[in-house]
Amino acid sequence: MAIRTILRDGDPVLKKRCHPVTRFDRRLGDLLDDMKETLGQAHGLGLAAPQVGILRRAVVVVTDLDSNEMLELVNPEILDAEGEETGWEGCLSVPGLWGLVTRPAWVRVRAQDRNGDWFEAEGEGVTARCFCHELAHLDGHLYTELCDRLYTPEEVDRMEAEAEAAEAAEAEAAAQAAAEPETEGAARPDGQAEEDGQP
Ligand code: NI
Repeated sequence: MAIRTILRDGDPVLKKRCHPVTRFDRRLGDLLDDMKETLGQAHGLGLAAPQVGILRRAVVVVTDLDSNEMLELVNPEILDAEGEETGWEGCLSVPGLWGLVTRPAWVRVRAQDRNGDWFEAEGEGVTARCFCHELAHLDGHLYTELCDRLYTPEEVDRMEAEAEAAEAAEAEAAAQAAAEPETEGAARPDGQAEEDGQP
């Protein structure tokens, strides 16, 4: 196994459409092994063959974030998709930047394994996002095409903190609104509670 160099955005190879894999030989096995090792070392969630300069339809996707389990997909295609989810997305070919992308919330894919046997796999949330992102690489597309703009990690952190604060404030306001009429209404069933209750 070997670590391969990950191509960066701007490299024309990343814009090309990949050819189907037709030979399920040792070379394909070596490529998939190298891709997994490269992905693991880069701490990414997915890697497509064109990102390491190979114009073949093969990707690896992390399907379990806890165990870092990876799934190899050769000649993959999306069979079915449901729902919508907008979330942060990054790419090892676009290091240090993030974008908000809307993807299906759930997808079912069909692919071949390294021996050429077909199988189906499902993914939701981040895994569905990964399947879509990696499969797009095989047609020469990067997630950045789907974003209005890209954000630095600091900007992402700030936006996340702001969203959390807004959510907390909203929850607190909702809790207050829910609590107030109930206590006052119970004391004054004549409906005057709100007027009389205020100083
Ligand atoms: Ni990518």
